[in-house]
Amino acid sequence: MESNITIPKHIGIIMDGNGRWAKKRLLPRNMGHKKGAEVFQDITRYCNELGLEAVTFYAFSTENWKRPKDEVDGIMKLFKEYLITAFDYEKENNKIIFLGDKSAFSGELLDLMEEIETKTADRTGMILNIAINYGSRNEMVHACKKIAQDVKNGKMDVNDINEDTFSSFLYTKNQPDPDFILRPSGEKRLSNFLLWQSAYSEFVYMDVLWPDFTRKNLDEAILEFNKRNRRFGGV
Ligand code: IPE
Ligand code: IPE
Ligand code: MG
Repeated sequence: MESNITIPKHIGIIMDGNGRWAKKRLLPRNMGHKKGAEVFQDITRYCNELGLEAVTFYAFSTENWKRPKDEVDGIMKLFKEYLITAFDYEKENNKIIFLGDKSAFSGELLDLMEEIETKTADRTGMILNIAINYGSRNEMVHACKKIAQDVKNGKMDVNDINEDTFSSFLYTKNQPDPDFILRPSGEKRLSNFLLWQSAYSEFVYMDVLWPDFTRKNLDEAILEFNKRNRRFGGV
């Protein structure tokens, strides 16, 4: 990247198009997820090289359970493989956080997720968020319930509820909002991703399918981000 380019602090990436990538090659959809996971790993490394503060990958939504059982099982198996190799976390200084409703997971998957979060909690490098069983509506309802509980128990006053305290009850607590949301695959929607956090994010949609996504594509997206004039309601 050229030196006069502003690198976003926090990029949110909706990893979409795995199924279509596989279909084009007459392969089972899970082959698309496998290739997509390899791209995820490489783009994570590249985000590190670029010096991002945080990156959030949308890996599995609260709605994705609607998919056929063999596809969901395949995705969870792949997720477990990456958990076992711990997303290469021994090699990088990333702080890994799983965003989403963890109550859907149990046993080995949950143990591995918690172990990785604990082991990387004091890391000083990039925050690597992996959104799994994540949905913004679920996240906001979850936050409301916790706030209501705290008010009921006298731990919090109703007047303490403001935008900052609300944010602190979300899975993304203490993290900068994404300045930039990127969706490959040609779809132009958020699909329940970071609705609250992306209030002032720039959006870039790209036609490339996620398994074909390269470092060069990320460069192009960042160049596009640099053309945007961010005003945050001002002039
Ligand atoms: C994204 O790719 C991966 C997940 C949602 C888990 P898709 O599987 O949605 O791919 P398309 O959109 O069907 O091509
Ligand atoms: C969004 O993609 C979820 C992830 C990428 C994990 P989907 O493929 O599930 O979204 P829709 O169904 O096209 O909106
Ligand atoms: Mg999709």
